[in-house]
Amino acid sequence: MYQVIARKYRPQSFEDVVGQTHVKTTLRNAIAMKRIAHGYIFSGQRGTGKTTMARILARCLNCIQGPTPNPCGVCASCTEIAAGGAVDVIEIDAASNRGINEMRELRENVRYQPSRDRFKIFIIDEAHQITTEAFNALLKTIEEPPSWAVFILCTTESHKIPATIASRCQHFSFRSVDFDELVERMRWICREEGVDADDEALAVLARAGEGSVRDSLSALDQAIASSGSRLEAADVRALLGAFSIDRFAIVAEALAKSDPQPMLDLVDDLERSGENLQHFARELSRYLRNLMVARIAGEDTRLVAASANERAELVRAAALFSEQDLTRYLNLSLELYRDLQFSLQPRFHLEVGLLRLIYAGRLQPIEEALAALGGSEEPVEAKPVAPPMSASASAPARRAPTPFEL
Ligand SMILES: Nc1ncnc2c1ncn2[C@@H]1O[C@H](COP(=O)(O)OP(=O)(O)O)[C@@H](O)[C@H]1O
Ligand SMILES: [Mg+2]
Ligand SMILES: [Zn+2]
Repeated sequence: MYQVIARKYRPQSFEDVVGQTHVKTTLRNAIAMKRIAHGYIFSGQRGTGKTTMARILARCLNCIQGPTPNPCGVCASCTEIAAGGAVDVIEIDAASNRGINEMRELRENVRYQPSRDRFKIFIIDEAHQITTEAFNALLKTIEEPPSWAVFILCTTESHKIPATIASRCQHFSFRSVDFDELVERMRWICREEGVDADDEALAVLARAGEGSVRDSLSALDQAIASSGSRLEAADVRALLGAFSIDRFAIVAEALAKSDPQPMLDLVDDLERSGENLQHFARELSRYLRNLMVARIAGEDTRLVAASANERAELVRAAALFSEQDLTRYLNLSLELYRDLQFSLQPRFHLEVGLLRLIYAGRLQPIEEALAALGGSEEPVEAKPVAPPMSASASAPARRAPTPFEL
């Protein structure tokens, strides 16, 4: 039977897990030193490896050669945990078992020794869904657990775990996986699957997950189903409704030249090809944000999720503007995105929004011109809005008039 990529490539050991280095290192050391806690909280965005890591920890603890940071992978415990069917590793989905009765049952279950393995491990997924009373029923058990019990609470919302429980657990936060590492992982998976994917296509897929490895792998499944063994960026973009950076480069070009015509043509083109204009506005914000970051932090920054080609293009475009320009554009584009969500006339809104970007971009020269008219030596922008404290204490200091007073 066909197994989806996300499940087929679920990491089976610490080395296989992408990112989460801090979690891996701490857990490995703790296991090597046999300092095993009774309670763990794994928190963080969905699809970043919480359940995966919980199962790896379970293997480390219950491997016949364990507890060890390097489980053998072949003993009954190891293989059963991988398949999700080990007797002493109990996985509970708290989304559907969140009530007091389920937790009472669990509390009963904890009292009995493991039937075969060293530890009895309870992996509670979506743990924040457990009701308050149910947590209370669990509290006593987590306070004074039998020596064989280990609880691993996985959650996307750790602040919803009561402090009484949290304070008895070791807490690990899972971060969204680095873009480049995720691209590498997908490149490897494609090789294993005999799929030939270009860099740009992998970048589109990696971004589609918005930090969730699982979501990116689901997108990869979808792309393979639609394109077969050769993935090209254009097809993947069409499939996922993503935009090519060329579309946004048109906007940057128009802004640099203060030319409204290409903006109107772009909107027309988007409309004709049936694109979702809200989605475009959102991606435009992301693009302008990337320009700003590229301008500030340079080409090699990890803060931009982009392929090598896209990075080069971002840096080229960013050089056309100042940081202030880009900050202003980003701000305006966020307003545009917000407005578009409620708009009954998205096309007009988008047109106005794009033109506003151009005219707002012209503010700066006007300010400079005003400053020059006022005879001030410094440009107006450099003036603090309020007079400095020391000046306000003494006689009113002479200051250049603001544009509003002229
Ligand atoms: N850090 C990671 N490294 C490698 N693969 C990952 C990682 N995080 C998630 N995955 C992939 O996504 C799938 C789902 O991950 P999972 O651990 O269930 O996420 P979570 O529990 O955080 O929602 C896994 O089967 C695996 O294929
Ligand atoms: Mg999970
Ligand atoms: Zn083993």
